[in-house]
Amino acid sequence: MRALTITLAIASTMCFIAACTHQEANVEPAVVKSYSFEETPAELAGYRDQAKGAFQAVGNRLIPRLTTALNEGGPVEAVKVCRDVAQPLTDEAGKEVGFAVGRTSHKLRNPASAPRDWIKQLVADSAGKKGSEVKPMVFDLGDRVGVAAPIVAVEMCVQCHGSDEQLKQEVKQILAEQYPDDNARGFAAGDLRGWFWAELPKK
Ligand code: HEC
Repeated sequence: MRALTITLAIASTMCFIAACTHQEANVEPAVVKSYSFEETPAELAGYRDQAKGAFQAVGNRLIPRLTTALNEGGPVEAVKVCRDVAQPLTDEAGKEVGFAVGRTSHKLRNPASAPRDWIKQLVADSAGKKGSEVKPMVFDLGDRVGVAAPIVAVEMCVQCHGSDEQLKQEVKQILAEQYPDDNARGFAAGDLRGWFWAELPKK
């Protein structure tokens, strides 16, 4: 689990995996039951593993984009990359795997990443926690399976998600222009920043 959490933390260095990929399918099923990854019943384990794979695949595709933007253009350029490529690249990845994938948080930057109903309780209960205090979860949603995995802040995230003192003036300026309702500030390394989520139709 540690390895997964670390992988996800790395994957989330790209501020890319934005909102849900299939907005039109956003009919909220009732949560029947939830399980930690370890306790996931055998009949749901395949969905859990598919979701894990999708989180990693999206990360692998997007990490190079953010890294290049940060290295070559600095954080302001990287904010633009996040804004412009997060959604298209996430949509593309979701289409390839055939289920909805996204990110969410208790403190949102992009309102389009608001949590779906089944993950709202988890997001609320885990608000303000350390990454080490939460676990990935599987939700049995009846005709669907929901999967959630924590996104933990690391030092580099603070450039764009830290305190006002930690954000460079030009980063604050572009965030104010692009995300007037930005609430994704005040995070430190080790904090739970948000959640990857996937919603898979049962077969
Ligand atoms: C270059 C600035 C920048 C850096 C560095 C950065 N982010 Fe972001 N982050 C953004 C922007 C911009 C968005 C909004 C993207 C969008 O419009 O979907 C965002 C969105 C997110 C979201 C989606 C939820 C929301 O609030 O909209 C999560 C989760 C997230 N970032 C986590 C992280 C983590 C974890 C790190 C470090 C590993 C990180 N970010 C580093 C700029 C950054």
